[in-house]
Amino acid sequence: AVAAVQARDLLGQRVIVSAGGTREALDPVRFLGNASSGRQGIALARAAALRGADVTLVSAHLSEEPPAGVEVVEVSSTADLAEAMVQRAPDADVIVMAVAAADFTPDATAMHKIKKDGSDGLDLHLVQTTDVLATLAARRRKAPGQVIVGFAAETADDEAHLLALGRAKLERKGCDLLVLNNVSGGAVFGHPDNTITIIDHDGVVATASGDKALVAHRIWDAVVAIRTQEDS
Ligand code: CTP
Ligand code: CA
Repeated sequence: AVAAVQARDLLGQRVIVSAGGTREALDPVRFLGNASSGRQGIALARAAALRGADVTLVSAHLSEEPPAGVEVVEVSSTADLAEAMVQRAPDADVIVMAVAAADFTPDATAMHKIKKDGSDGLDLHLVQTTDVLATLAARRRKAPGQVIVGFAAETADDEAHLLALGRAKLERKGCDLLVLNNVSGGAVFGHPDNTITIIDHDGVVATASGDKALVAHRIWDAVVAIRTQEDS
């Protein structure tokens, strides 16, 4: 269980957590979205605040209230997310991308509601969005350095497959830590519990299983460990 008296080991750290799921508008009332509840990101923001951090939560359609005591910035699409993150990143010591960002967005948003037109289907044309995490990692602040954390939900056959996918993604994104989730069973989105593996460029840093608050604290432990290495 999480200790009743929390270490204030993020005191003075400026932290940005993105959480929830982006929406890409098709027309004024319809969007392409995803099933992320944002609960893990909310738990991360709450845990960081408890540990003394100055927290900004960049929120994309959260299904629960954000924690008290954190600054909230609301975004909708992946483009909004990119703008909000790139603008704030230079002030951050730690960036955690827990948000489920859409990979594709409609090449145009209809001004009026899309109508059924006879009995035909509807063809949508989608274009790729900005990879926010890769952008933030490519532009990372050098001095003082930043810790950048990504998330990846993968449908892996087993632990070895999960780690191989994770390793490739970590290198591609250029982040420091990747929090891996095997979603093959299908039971992560919207559930109170989570099972994660945290990797860095050398391999597995930690694993954790339990409620999202506990998992959040294990992720911050891994971040604090990097900060401590940097200082020594
Ligand atoms: N991410 C991002 N911008 C995007 C898509 C994803 O910043 N346009 C971030 C997510 O918030 C997450 C990490 O990148 O922290 C990994 O997301 P994931 O969907 O697993 O990675 P992708 O590069 O989109 O790869 P895939 O094709 O497997 O979806
Ligand atoms: Ca993706």
